[in-house]
Amino acid sequence: MINLKNIEKCYGTGLNTFKALDEVNLEIKKGEFVAVIGASGSGKSTLLNIIGCMDSPTDGEYYFENENVLKKSFKDLAAFRNKKIGFVFQAFNLADDCTASENIEMPLGYAGIKKSERKRRVKEMLEKVGLSDKAKSYPRQLSGGQQQRVAIARALINNPDLILADEPTGNLDTHNAGQIMELFKKIHSESDRTVIMITHNPELAEQADRIIKITDGRI
Ligand SMILES: Nc1ncnc2c1ncn2[C@@H]1O[C@H](COP(=O)(O)OP(=O)(O)OP(=O)(O)O)[C@@H](O)[C@H]1O
Ligand SMILES: [Mg+2]
Repeated sequence: MINLKNIEKCYGTGLNTFKALDEVNLEIKKGEFVAVIGASGSGKSTLLNIIGCMDSPTDGEYYFENENVLKKSFKDLAAFRNKKIGFVFQAFNLADDCTASENIEMPLGYAGIKKSERKRRVKEMLEKVGLSDKAKSYPRQLSGGQQQRVAIARALINNPDLILADEPTGNLDTHNAGQIMELFKKIHSESDRTVIMITHNPELAEQADRIIKITDGRI
C-alpha cells in the first residue's frame, strides 16, 4: 500500500539545516497494524505527516497503491487525503463549539454527502465507538477518552483505507489508553484497514503486527 524510497526531510536552510528524516525506506502492506516508536525528536511525527500528505519530503519518492503521491496537484492531493486517510491526534483536535455528532459529521460535509445519509452514518459511527448517549454533548462535557473516541469516529466517517494516529493515547490514563487501543484493534480487524500508530507505550506497541523504531531520523 505504502512505499517510501530514500525519503529525506530537512528543516531550515544553509548552516541551520536539520535532517529530521534520513534515507527512510519503508513498505507497509494493506491491512497491517504498525506501531512507530522512538525517542522524542527522532522524527516519528515528521514521518507520519509525510505518509499522511500533510507535509512533503525534501527528497525521495512516495507511492501509495502504486500512485506517485508527490506528483499530484494540490487539489488532487486534498481529495486523495480526504477519501483515503483518517487522522487521529494526541490532543483530540475537536471543534469546541460543535457537539460530538457535529464533529463526527464534519468530513462528510466536505465530501458533499446529503443530509439524511450524513445523519445515518453519524449515528452508526456513534454506536461503533460506544457514544450513542453523548451525541449532543460538547467536547468540554466529555472525558479525555470519550473525546478521543469522537476524534476516532470523525477519522473513520469517510471510511478511509488508512488510519494514522500520532500518540492517540498520550493524553490518557492507563485505563482509557487501553480502551482506545482496543478500539483501534477492532477497527483494524473488522475491515482490512491499515493502521499506523505512534506510541511511547511499549505495552501498546507490542500489540501491533509490526514495530518500527526510529532513531535520529533513521528506521
Ligand atoms: N518545523 C520545524 N522546523 C525545524 N525543525 C523541526 C520542525 N519540525 C520538527 N523539527 C525537528 O525535527 C525533529 C523531528 O521532529 P518530530 O516532531 O518528527 O519528532 P517526534 O519523534 O515526533 O517527537 P515527539 O515524540 O516529541 O513527538 C526534531 O528534532 C524537531 O526539532
Ligand atoms: Mg511527535
